[in-house]
Amino acid sequence: MTSDRLLSIEGLRVDLPSRSGSRERRTVIHDVTLSVDDGESVGLVGESGSGKSMTTKATMRLLPPGAKVSGGLTFRGESVLDYSRKELAAYRSRKVSMIYQDPRAHTNPLLTIGDFLVEGVVATGQMSRADALDQACALLVDVGVTDAERRMLQYPHQLSGGLLQRMMIVMALMPSPELILADEPTTALDVTVQSEVMAILAEQIRERSLGMLFITHDLDLAAAVTDTLAVMYAGVIVERGPSDEVYSKPRHPYTAALLKSRPSAVKVERLETIPGRPISAYEAGPGCVFAARCPFATEECREVRPALRQVGGRSVACHRAEDIASELFEGLSA
Ligand SMILES: Nc1ncnc2c1ncn2[C@@H]1O[C@H](COP(=O)(O)OP(=O)(O)OP(=O)(O)O)[C@@H](O)[C@H]1O
Ligand SMILES: [Mg+2]
Repeated sequence: MTSDRLLSIEGLRVDLPSRSGSRERRTVIHDVTLSVDDGESVGLVGESGSGKSMTTKATMRLLPPGAKVSGGLTFRGESVLDYSRKELAAYRSRKVSMIYQDPRAHTNPLLTIGDFLVEGVVATGQMSRADALDQACALLVDVGVTDAERRMLQYPHQLSGGLLQRMMIVMALMPSPELILADEPTTALDVTVQSEVMAILAEQIRERSLGMLFITHDLDLAAAVTDTLAVMYAGVIVERGPSDEVYSKPRHPYTAALLKSRPSAVKVERLETIPGRPISAYEAGPGCVFAARCPFATEECREVRPALRQVGGRSVACHRAEDIASELFEGLSA
């Protein structure tokens, strides 16, 4: 029943021309299978270079020129990859909104906050300028900006990072979208502001029953604010399931390793690091993408890529998920 799904991604693969300018292509996402339902928040977690941002770019069809995409990508049952120009414009401007990591890079220094916030919805004819200004002001109040009217007349450089990111949340909500893609929305902020902004975003999403794909490398944060967690490694989803279960009882060795390498892992006396270095999708061999760093890897793991399958109430791409379950939980504070 994929047709009711807000967003459904099936076996998505993306190959990009290499940056060196040669003709060779690089696979940046191998096999991403994910879905987001109405009102569901899904956390996409993984190390730097694992392909998280590429997944959102593919979802928005904003990949660099020359990108080759295969697999399924549907929004309310319709293939986003087959959208006409007009459908794509409507999808990007009204159905899905993005929130980026660095708000300053995505504002226009020459526009006041008010003009910036209403620009999109007025240009698409979705709202009159007067209505849009009223709505922007009301949304600023919703996200906790007290002197909203004065803020509307200010320029981006007059706002702190935290305020600017609240403004970006408002920007994302302006067209009344159905899905929010938030790519590391709080990473550029300092820690105290981070949790405040995240709480505001989560609250707005919940109140409006929107779907959200929340990208982060912070497993604790993702587990705290999402319903479902998807863990990505080298362009592949290796584990996916209810956030609390994936977080307390990981079933993939990579998820377990990530959990054990967090500074906040209370029961762990010494911080464990994951041996080896993270690899990019194009460096992965024929077998499991995590095999080279996995303490449980066998010959089969190095040779045969495991598919996502149902184990213990979630999806796991690991040949050995059943035999190693108890070893994975060891040392984890549930
Ligand atoms: N324009 C590009 N051309 C070619 N390869 C790229 C391009 N942009 C990114 N890549 C490669 O694609 C892979 C996935 O990158 P992506 O930006 O999706 O990672 P990420 O998970 O978002 O990482 P981070 O946590 O650092 O944001 C990486 O190997 C990266 O080097
Ligand atoms: Mg990224």
